[in-house]
Parts: sequence; C-alpha cells; structure tokens
Amino acid sequence: MLAKLVHFAVDAALVSTVLAGIRRTSGYTLNTSNINHEDIKKAVDGWLSIGEMIMDHSSVFVRGSSLFEDERKKG
Ligand SMILES: *[C@@H]1O[C@H](CO)[C@@H](O)[C@H](O)[C@H]1NC(C)=O
Repeated sequence: MLAKLVHFAVDAALVSTVLAGIRRTSGYTLNTSNINHEDIKKAVDGWLSIGEMIMDHSSVFVRGSSLFEDERKKG
C-alpha cells in the first residue's frame, strides 16, 4: 500500500517535471482555466509548481557538475 503510494508520488513528480520542461522549452503549459472545480485547479497548479521546483533544483545540480557542459559556451 505504502509502496504504491510512493510509486504514484514519484510518477506524479516525474510527469510534473516533464511538463515543466516542456513549458520551459516551448512555452506551453496545461490550461488550468479548463478546470471548473476550484480545489482541483489549485491542486493541479500546486502539482505543476512541484515540477518547476524540481527543474530549478536539477539545473543548479547540473551547473555544478562536470558531467554536463553548457552547449551555448562551446565554440
Ligand atoms: C483555457 O481554457 C479556457 C476555458 O476553457 C478558455 O477560455 C481559454 O481560451 C483557454 N486558453 C487557451 C490559451 O486556449
């Protein structure tokens, strides 16, 4: 039961992170104005902001790591 819950949370965080990535590269995001239910809309907005947070943290990690390089700086 707990394992399923953790699995679901990880999946939800991954999907949210992918959506944040799409938003950053294409500018497209979920249109949460479609959601009529205020509580669900808030939950989806909160879920999307988790992905944004993960993206922020992972770009800090990537910047400090020699495993990654900045393509824009490559000559
Ligand atoms: C988002 O959804 C709302 C409600 O359906 C709609 O009025 C609005 O035009 C949509 N926005 C975009 C960018 O499609």
